[in-house]
Amino acid sequence: MRSARNSQATKQLTKTSMIVNICKTKVNDMKGQILKSLRDCSEYLSGETLSNQLGVSRVSIWKHIHSLEKDGYVIEAFPKGYKLISSPDLLLPYEFPWLEQRIHYFPEIGSTMDVAKELATKGAGEGTIVLAEAQVHGRGRLSREWLSPKGGIYFTLILRPEINPAYAPRINLMVSVAVATTIRKLFGLKAELKWPNDVLIAGRKVCGILAEMDAEMDVVNFVNVGIGINANTSIPQFEKTVTSLKDALGREISRKEFFSVLLVEIERQQPLLMKADLLEEWKKLSVTLNKDVRIVAPGEVIVGRAIDIDTSGALIIRERNGSFKKALAGDCIYLREEVPNTDMEAVSRK
Ligand code: BTN
Repeated sequence: MRSARNSQATKQLTKTSMIVNICKTKVNDMKGQILKSLRDCSEYLSGETLSNQLGVSRVSIWKHIHSLEKDGYVIEAFPKGYKLISSPDLLLPYEFPWLEQRIHYFPEIGSTMDVAKELATKGAGEGTIVLAEAQVHGRGRLSREWLSPKGGIYFTLILRPEINPAYAPRINLMVSVAVATTIRKLFGLKAELKWPNDVLIAGRKVCGILAEMDAEMDVVNFVNVGIGINANTSIPQFEKTVTSLKDALGREISRKEFFSVLLVEIERQQPLLMKADLLEEWKKLSVTLNKDVRIVAPGEVIVGRAIDIDTSGALIIRERNGSFKKALAGDCIYLREEVPNTDMEAVSRK
């Protein structure tokens, strides 16, 4: 969710919470190992066995079990040992064994973008994920704040595509197609795309995507793609431009399932990054093409009819004077509802 606040103090706080949360991750490693042992065992697992397996005291095991219970895990404790009864809908790395090694998990963080940038700069590999249950200083596009309360899905994916930096906007298209496809597949909701990278349900934004690139003239070092999904968050009624999956469906979703299906979908789309199929797929899902738009791009405002996207992922706009302009980034505002097969001059005379 978005609001319009940004400050230097915010950036400072973000760094502080990064340090605090890196410590929390170590605690979670132990909790993860305990959970794994409990899951691997169909019977009760004694505190002594756990303490031998994990090389920590029984008191330490008990403390971590207690902490897991606070997280929402239901663990029965009997004289003969512990048994896992149920798990909460947390996106803990050990809930995704095939991704576990790639996920840096934080119960709360400043922004996943900051940690991902640090990791990518230090050489973290393609596919590394920084994931948080909540962000206190989530960032949106154009330096806006992205409100990130618990219940949403917030993560940054580190990509190292071997493409010319000019084609980097295609990554936004690819990820937005993956998000919309996931929503359609899982819930049958008509998720649509608004250029450059918003995912909408019934015209309201349900997901935002923020890509940050580090590149040289002709080489991409990394592109960090931040994805924020309003999953089980409740959107205030006065908010007319935003929705959540929970509000759209009238029920909570399994964030674990959504995250895991989305990651599979992104991996499915990746080979298509430089293929025409990606642009075709984006166009099918787009609600921006054929609309009259005002694009507030860095350094200029373009007004006209959005008619296509080019191979780099830029939006092509036909201006009222008939000339064509391209926008690679910016805010897109719809001027009026779509008027099919009507030329711009005629529209502007009405
Ligand atoms: C937008 O303005 O629409 C983009 C929003 C992107 C939000 C995501 S949430 C995960 C990642 N971390 C952030 O601080 N921002 C992105």
